[in-house]
Amino acid sequence: MKLLITGVGSGLGKALALEGLRRGYEVYALSRHLPEELSGKVRFVRCDLSYLERVSTCLLKLIDGVSEIDLVILNAGILGKFGDMVEVPLKDFLKVMDVNVWSNKIILDTLLKEGIRLKQVVAISSGAAVNCNRGWNAYSISKASLNCLIKLYSREAESTHFTAVAPGLVFTPMLEEVMKQSEEKYPSVGRIKASPKRRPEEAARMIFDLLPRFLEFESGSFLDVRKL
Ligand SMILES: NC(=O)c1ccc[n+]([C@@H]2O[C@H](COP(=O)([O-])OP(=O)(O)OC[C@H]3O[C@@H](n4cnc5c(N)ncnc54)[C@H](OP(=O)(O)O)[C@@H]3O)[C@@H](O)[C@H]2O)c1
Repeated sequence: MKLLITGVGSGLGKALALEGLRRGYEVYALSRHLPEELSGKVRFVRCDLSYLERVSTCLLKLIDGVSEIDLVILNAGILGKFGDMVEVPLKDFLKVMDVNVWSNKIILDTLLKEGIRLKQVVAISSGAAVNCNRGWNAYSISKASLNCLIKLYSREAESTHFTAVAPGLVFTPMLEEVMKQSEEKYPSVGRIKASPKRRPEEAARMIFDLLPRFLEFESGSFLDVRKL
């Protein structure tokens, strides 16, 4: 079984890669950093997904000789600058969109054009895709776009099952950054602080356990694990 995953340097992606290894997957990873725990255990090509013109070349190098991938997890993502819409310049939005959305288009286009058989694609989305709470600006827009991107591919690549999945609150560097923001100005920050969170390892186990469940939903669906 082969797992292709993006963003294994920290947080959920690192835990998903480790869990994939534990479950017997051969893991192929694209990321800027390779953590010590994964070193020597995964096939890895260093790739900064914000450099869109390099993404396809990195991916082709990583999957050289591969004709079928059981599971693709599009995990890499950035929060961008938290703040009000009027405070965050468009150039910051573009960077978030490049990493969270457009790099995934390049990855899926490359895999599909190469004729690689893909069984299941899970894009890590967020409740922010629908909540659009104050402060989440580019991140919310990027995750809403990601959900749409995944639905669009599901209409074309009918032999692949696609889902965009909100993993719930996971205690990672990204969530720590959110929790540093002002609760007074951004009420969702207070709600997040008060809510239960999973450790990345627990969230990764849960996502792997839910993979068969995701297949029961129409391809292209957006699923929030808190509602399953
Ligand atoms: N934590 C939560 O509660 C939560 C909730 C909903 C959704 N999510 C989503 O879960 C995913 C993982 O986030 P996280 O919470 O684990 O945060 P994180 O610890 O900040 O992880 C972000 C991951 O994305 C990768 N990444 C970031 N920029 C990259 C770039 N330019 N090129 C390649 N890889 C890049 C990082 O790897 P490298 O450093 O190696 O590049 C890292 O593994 C994201 O898509 C996030 O939106 C998280």
